[in-house]
Amino acid sequence: MKRSFAALWLAAAWAGGCGGDPPAAEPGGFAEKNWPAEAEALLAGSDWYRHAVFYEVYVRSFQDSDGDGVGDLKGLESRLDYLKELGVDALWLMPILETPFFDSGYDVADYLAVNPDYGTEEDLESLLDAAHARGMRVIMDLVLNHTSAAHSWFVESRADRTNAKADWYVWSDTPSHPDNGCGTQSGVFGDSAWEYDAGRGQYYFHRFYPEQPDLNYRSPAVVEATLGVARHWLDRGVDGFRCDVIGLLHESATECEMLPATVDYIRELRAVVDEYPGSVLVAEPSKLTDATAYFGDGADMFHMAFHFGYGYFWGFPFGAGSAAPITDTFAASLERFPVGAQDALVIGSHDVARAYAVAQGDDTRHRRAAWIQLTARGTPYVYYGEELALRPGTDEVVDLRDTARTPMLWDGTPGHGFTTGTPWLAFGAEADTFHLAAEREDPTSMWAFYRDLLRLRRGRAVWGTGEMELLETGTTTVFAFHRADAFMAYVVAVNLTPDEVTARLARADLGERAERVIGSGTLALDASGADLVLPGAGAAVFRVR
Ligand code: NOJ
Ligand code: MG
Repeated sequence: MKRSFAALWLAAAWAGGCGGDPPAAEPGGFAEKNWPAEAEALLAGSDWYRHAVFYEVYVRSFQDSDGDGVGDLKGLESRLDYLKELGVDALWLMPILETPFFDSGYDVADYLAVNPDYGTEEDLESLLDAAHARGMRVIMDLVLNHTSAAHSWFVESRADRTNAKADWYVWSDTPSHPDNGCGTQSGVFGDSAWEYDAGRGQYYFHRFYPEQPDLNYRSPAVVEATLGVARHWLDRGVDGFRCDVIGLLHESATECEMLPATVDYIRELRAVVDEYPGSVLVAEPSKLTDATAYFGDGADMFHMAFHFGYGYFWGFPFGAGSAAPITDTFAASLERFPVGAQDALVIGSHDVARAYAVAQGDDTRHRRAAWIQLTARGTPYVYYGEELALRPGTDEVVDLRDTARTPMLWDGTPGHGFTTGTPWLAFGAEADTFHLAAEREDPTSMWAFYRDLLRLRRGRAVWGTGEMELLETGTTTVFAFHRADAFMAYVVAVNLTPDEVTARLARADLGERAERVIGSGTLALDASGADLVLPGAGAAVFRVR
């Protein structure tokens, strides 16, 4: 089933640069004291998602509970305490519904049935209960642009041209369409976006693999059916959705993303979600450099949208030792977003190379990238295993992206605590060295770094909702910003290069006194700004009020 995969976003994030051999950053660091009551209060309110730390889970690769080599819902439930300890407040489950697995579950064959590889509906219910009992939330992937060709809707639609679902998909007599195809007839995953179907003697449109026909949202029945899918899972206690390529629902001959009709649909979806207080939507924007269109007036579309301008491109600025691309992408969202919009901050996902690979194996580069992700304005989404600096694998079952989807490494046993059987996908590199059991014992490990930084966020509203102001540094090699709310303020600074750097932060009223709470380097405040020194490959968070 292995496929050749050539999406442009993969290539973009895969590339790094060369930055020489930076010295190791100072190990350890410390976090400020714990604020459990404040944390609980922030996570219980309607703004909980702004204060939460999300964790993206590939259920198939996280924890197997029955020895079949495939991760499952019961396995995930057994690891909730681990996630809680790490500082995770909410889970995003990649697709867990029935699928022939041509695209790792992003080809849904039944929107209402749990994939039996992962368990039963009771297992899901049990997972939701167990998460909620710990004050954690769970959102699911909602894949609405297309179904699997094995979905009963498509089976019916392709049978002939007159059946009840004949117009549920995008059919055409030619491999093109006057009202569809957005100016290109090629799909994301291959040459043509049109596949000939002998049954109908017509072509159907598929933005992704041929096994993923696009639904036709011009049909009111499709709109009703898919909104019903959202309702179904919200009724069962799911806390919201990560919406897969949601901007692509409608297309015209020239445009494919966020057409007015797609925007209307999203508003309808948001209205459904609003019937379930506390539920949230996070968008996967297709335009990687600007998610503004997904926020509407700030309250009528998405609660969050992924910030790919940073998350999928940080390899370039770190490789080049230049802060400018990072400054530009954050400046753009700070400027353009409506009040209420919230960035969803990542440094990786199931679609791109592992952070370890993007950092070119440079531990400090990975840490500095995460540093920005976890302290900039927004809600962080940690991709499972990122906290261990999981190395890429080489095995491919579906396509190249499997190299970033290898099973979690819990310990040094042959099945690495993931399975007692044979893993469905081979473990990644250096599996005997970089696993949780070993990293937990090592105060200088990536895991310890994530734990400390996540602890620093807990109970402090400023990280989720405080103002973020980008700071002039007088140098091209430092990215620095100020975070503040009514109660506290911080300065965060990251050195993009392997060399020690001094910078002048020219902004009055930065704060009252500077105390470094994590990282390395110094900040000396004065009336008109501050002098900053960061060691090579260093970064720091300073409390200034
Ligand atoms: C985006 C998902 O993240 C990716 O994994 C998938 O292949 C495509 N959408 C198609 O669903
Ligand atoms: Mg299993």
